[in-house]
Amino acid sequence: MNCKAPRGTHDIFGINALGMSILEQKSKQIFIKHGFEEVRTPIFEDASLFTRSIGQTTDIVEKEMYVFEDRKGRKLALRPEGTASLVRAYIEHRFDVSYPSGKFFYTGEMFRYERPQAGRYRQFHQIGAEFYGSLSPSADAEIILLACDIFSSVGINQIKVHINSLGCQKCRPLFRASLIKYFSSVSDLCRDCTRRLQTNPLRLLDCKIDVHKFTDVPKMEKFLCQDCKEHFNLTQTLLKSVGCAYTVDPKLVRGLDYYTRTVFEIRSDILGAQDALGAGGRYDNLVKELGGQDTPVVGFALGSERVLIAAKKSGFFDNLNKVEKIFIAIADQELFSTAFAFCVKLTRNGLKGNNNISVFGPVDNKSLTSQLKFADKIGAAKTIVFAKDELEEGKVLVKDMKDKTQSEVLISALL
Ligand code: HAM
Repeated sequence: MNCKAPRGTHDIFGINALGMSILEQKSKQIFIKHGFEEVRTPIFEDASLFTRSIGQTTDIVEKEMYVFEDRKGRKLALRPEGTASLVRAYIEHRFDVSYPSGKFFYTGEMFRYERPQAGRYRQFHQIGAEFYGSLSPSADAEIILLACDIFSSVGINQIKVHINSLGCQKCRPLFRASLIKYFSSVSDLCRDCTRRLQTNPLRLLDCKIDVHKFTDVPKMEKFLCQDCKEHFNLTQTLLKSVGCAYTVDPKLVRGLDYYTRTVFEIRSDILGAQDALGAGGRYDNLVKELGGQDTPVVGFALGSERVLIAAKKSGFFDNLNKVEKIFIAIADQELFSTAFAFCVKLTRNGLKGNNNISVFGPVDNKSLTSQLKFADKIGAAKTIVFAKDELEEGKVLVKDMKDKTQSEVLISALL
């Protein structure tokens, strides 16, 4: 049997699992402060939900979805993102009628069949938030600032916020037509660009292969209608009003088709090639397109693995190891149950009130030497040794594993 996780997937344990939980907890605290409520949707959905919302000609739908048939021949897909699932849930539970101005967040695994590399996986985690029912630019600004707050809560302060506006149904067709005209005049387009020229010309703007051929590309900014222009300007004014630095990036088009008006991506230089920590934008037509009431939405999602890579590089993990490991050893097998009872008290009450500890031991039938070796191996800061002579006086031996000193201490002074 091949004991290896499938390509592009990974096991998360130790400090990385702890980091993941802390990131989720901190995000939840920030979401709750902003009035967002948690929603958990299934890991798989009807495949057509993603095709219809993310877009038939996007990379995700064309080549990255894990699609399968169940025993009844239903075509299902492992979710590649959380936005579409939440829209489906929002409509299914009639929130569009009963709870039109809702704020929701989610965390969980997403699946995309991409070429794995550092920061890009086939199974990864996202933390996302979606603000339903507000057309106001303040909702766009709130979402962007909320994402920045999450990054800073795990020590990532060196970020770059890129924003753009993709306009609306009224003004985007003019931009689209102008792009088709422009790109048609460029010779030797790559295969993807040639294929997408008519179906999804916006995507050519972020083509990594042909980018050098595109000089003087038409900019959406020039085509924005009055409403979209005002929306974009006010979003920027609000970001500026709280000192949030950003760059207007006309090439930012995003790889999902549902966006209208504001789109954004938050990047970090310390990540390397896969530099997007998180991204999102406004999608005012999707709820209606999927059968719900006309409801504008703006949201974002971050990639937990990438955020944790950046957090680690920013030194955030250095403080996570601060839990003091304490090993309980026995010099005599008869003392096992006494040491066990002490262990239980220690885990419940802490060491002299310090609850920032983790307790290991006692272990059965091992020599004291091998117990001490084990304590070293797990990185214990202290080993508390139960020995007959000391115990008769109500004492134990406390060994400092780093400087190898030891002292006799009253048990009552430890608990
Ligand atoms: P997205 O840009 O496809 O947007 O993904 C959001 C974030 O998920 C990315 O910025 C990245 O950090 C992470 N991510 C994406 N693919 C991978 C991967 N293969 N491996 C590791 N991390 C990855 C969305 O998914 C939209 N649903 C965001 C949104 C929410 N827009 C509006 N609301």
